[in-house]
Amino acid sequence: MIEIANKVYYVGVNDRNKSLFEGLWPLPYGVSYNSYLIDDDKVCLIDTVEVDFFVQFIENLHAVLGDRQIDYLVINHMEPDHSGSLALLKKYYPNIQVIGNKKTFDMMSGFYGIRENTIEVKNGETLELGHHTLQFFMTPMVHWPETMMTLSKGEASILFTGDAFGCFGALNGGFIDKDIDTEGYWLEMVRYYSNIVGKYGIPVQNALKKLAGIHIDYICSTHGPVWHENVEKVVNLYDRMSKYETDPGLVICYGTMYGNTERMAEQIARAASLAGVRNIRLYNVSKTHHSYILQDIFRFRGLIVGAPTYNAGLYHEMDVLLQEVANRDIKNHLIGWFGSYSWASKAVSAIGEWNENHLHFEQVGEPVEMKQALTPEIKEECARLGREMAAKLLAE
Ligand code: FEO
Repeated sequence: MIEIANKVYYVGVNDRNKSLFEGLWPLPYGVSYNSYLIDDDKVCLIDTVEVDFFVQFIENLHAVLGDRQIDYLVINHMEPDHSGSLALLKKYYPNIQVIGNKKTFDMMSGFYGIRENTIEVKNGETLELGHHTLQFFMTPMVHWPETMMTLSKGEASILFTGDAFGCFGALNGGFIDKDIDTEGYWLEMVRYYSNIVGKYGIPVQNALKKLAGIHIDYICSTHGPVWHENVEKVVNLYDRMSKYETDPGLVICYGTMYGNTERMAEQIARAASLAGVRNIRLYNVSKTHHSYILQDIFRFRGLIVGAPTYNAGLYHEMDVLLQEVANRDIKNHLIGWFGSYSWASKAVSAIGEWNENHLHFEQVGEPVEMKQALTPEIKEECARLGREMAAKLLAE
């Protein structure tokens, strides 16, 4: 049994087998699906786990409860990595009452055909369990329409946040930040946020405003460690990311077929470094998964992208990356770009169209276009682009 505080138990599971979260995002360190049990006069479960882990989940519940029943299940988020065990759970606990909001129950009916034994709650409403009082906060679009958070007030103030403040990375024996080395989780939190929640900066800001002023001893997210010593740090990180605030630094990403466009990227990076930029990340978009590039685009203010022309259009992997960036509505960035062609020019103008029509970042320098291979003149143009970006970043 893993007690977090005050008869609130961790009953979640680890998934070290899945390769891609949502079929899209690599999981080199796995992921946890967190669920929590409040053992009070009324027993209350907060969220469930991915259905493939139901056997482990039910063992975790029995370890705390034995043969006792569960009175309530709060569903903070309906995405199946958290609601997936709902239908099976009802077979073990047929009298369980499900607590959610109107949108929760619309989805519960659609996903699982379950409509009975529900208690609908609205923002700010409370429910007494005995020694714990639950209060519900509607936090739509963090990151689905039905998402909400549940605050448990008792000896400790514990906020169950759904996906918010979560991160990739399975739990390796310890569950609370005070008991573990959290170092590896911070970048995975940025990658999780930028990939999964990143589009919803305004809803995250609205949620943070709703929570402002509430004392929180523990943040219990549905993914990653329980935050206790780092409550302020994770809230500040979410605040910064949802405002699209960045650190000084430069991401240069490029597509390349035979290394010529890559050489342009190297020239730009070298010039930016010589000009004094310390944080530079250089990525081949065909080699590094977009989730890591997005993570660093969220972190750093400067972005320079480049690619060859391919089939009279933009090199496919760069097209996909720019679509991912545009999809996140990322703001407050500087952009420069470059490209190449062998006989018909397109890549440079295509990147320009991406920025004008979708990204709306502030352009730095003139785009550099290369025909076939580097010349001394193109080398100097690349270096100039690197220096101009550096000057802009360092001036801030
Ligand atoms: Fe962890 Fe939005 O599901």
